[in-house]
Amino acid sequence: MSHALKTISVQLLRSNNVEAVNIGLRASSTWWSNVQMGPPDVILGITEAYKRDTDPKKVNLGVGAYRDDEGKPYILPSVRKAEEILHSKALNHEYAPIGGEATYTDAVAKLAFGEDSPVFQNKSNCTVQTISGTGALRLGLEFITKHYAKAKEVWMPAPTWGNHPQICNTLSLPHKKYRYFDPKTNGFDLNGALEDICQIPEGSIILLHACAHNPTGVDPKKEEWHQLSAAIKERKLFPFFDMAYQGFATGDVDNDAYALRYFVNEGHQVMLAQSFAKNMGLYGERAGALTLLCGDEESAAKVMSQVKIMVRVMYSNPPLYGARIVQEILGNPELKQQWLCDVKHMADRIISMRTQLRAGIEGAGNKQPWQHITDQIGMFCFTGLKPDQVERLTKDFHIYLTKDGRISVAGISSKNVDYVAEAIHKVTS
Ligand SMILES: Cc1ncc(COP(=O)(O)O)c(C=O)c1O
Repeated sequence: MSHALKTISVQLLRSNNVEAVNIGLRASSTWWSNVQMGPPDVILGITEAYKRDTDPKKVNLGVGAYRDDEGKPYILPSVRKAEEILHSKALNHEYAPIGGEATYTDAVAKLAFGEDSPVFQNKSNCTVQTISGTGALRLGLEFITKHYAKAKEVWMPAPTWGNHPQICNTLSLPHKKYRYFDPKTNGFDLNGALEDICQIPEGSIILLHACAHNPTGVDPKKEEWHQLSAAIKERKLFPFFDMAYQGFATGDVDNDAYALRYFVNEGHQVMLAQSFAKNMGLYGERAGALTLLCGDEESAAKVMSQVKIMVRVMYSNPPLYGARIVQEILGNPELKQQWLCDVKHMADRIISMRTQLRAGIEGAGNKQPWQHITDQIGMFCFTGLKPDQVERLTKDFHIYLTKDGRISVAGISSKNVDYVAEAIHKVTS
């Protein structure tokens, strides 16, 4: 019994009041009796339901992690090789610097902005290792709450990744939505986005998915990015890029960084959250980075000093293992070449599953338009399925996905694609 509890009990015993003693003990039986049950995580809830299902035909299209054609988690050959090299180096387990190793942060920033980016000529970037993409978003948005002097309002695409608004809520950072997805075309709503952007208060933060938008799989085309950049500049907005899928959209890391690099060339001082969860398959290793472009070296040094203070009180310094793998791959030309092939291999399998899924639904005689399945890009496809159709897919066909009709195309394989196509045909005709 804790000291505090003992003291209360003794005082109550002295008062010779047995009922009061019981109440005292009961009331103190947990410090957490005021805590309410929170809602379960949507995606994890789907995975749990999938695991409980004993039907052999079951398919999990909920989880946002790459699977090979056998439906198994994939360890990239380049990552395997990097692990062997690391093992042979017998490195120690000392703490990493607060902002991560400079070799790591230099390499990941160059991967994002491009080797020859003007950003590196005047050393105006502040890049730190973070706990994957989520950690980068959290650190970046928290930095905004503390140090950003302009309108503290974050504008995000509708819809967006569920964690974006949740992180803002946690930080009491107001957030609003600009139009992005057009349910009529299952594509990008350029006019809606531009109209909304023109109304955003000057100085606000605008969140942009650099590529492979989650959950819709809908990315603006190059020309559309140009128009967005011009509107964002006109409104004097602050662009915060979330790049969790570099390479995953088209299979080409430079192509997927197009929007980010275009914005930088257009003079935007962006913030960037990076993740190596998907493009290196390092989900659980939590390797990511946050970059703030600061205009000049002096400002970058000041920003870095404040970012370090925030990291120090949150988790002191970042984890080593995932970052070492990333560093090994990006720093070794042969391994990097292998990795670029590995990323392309994953992207190509997803693109091929999109083609086969669409062909399967159309081949079954379905009369609805399904072109968006192949137009969309990256891991996810916003199918346009309605909640009751999603429910039927799960109940009658043991296919698991989120209620908004999003499927992870990575969960489709040559073995289940016909079954999934047939099921989608049946619930939509
Ligand atoms: C849009 C987007 N941003 C960021 C992340 C961050 O992922 P992680 O924290 O695993 O790197 C994800 C992961 O699903 C995502 O979809």
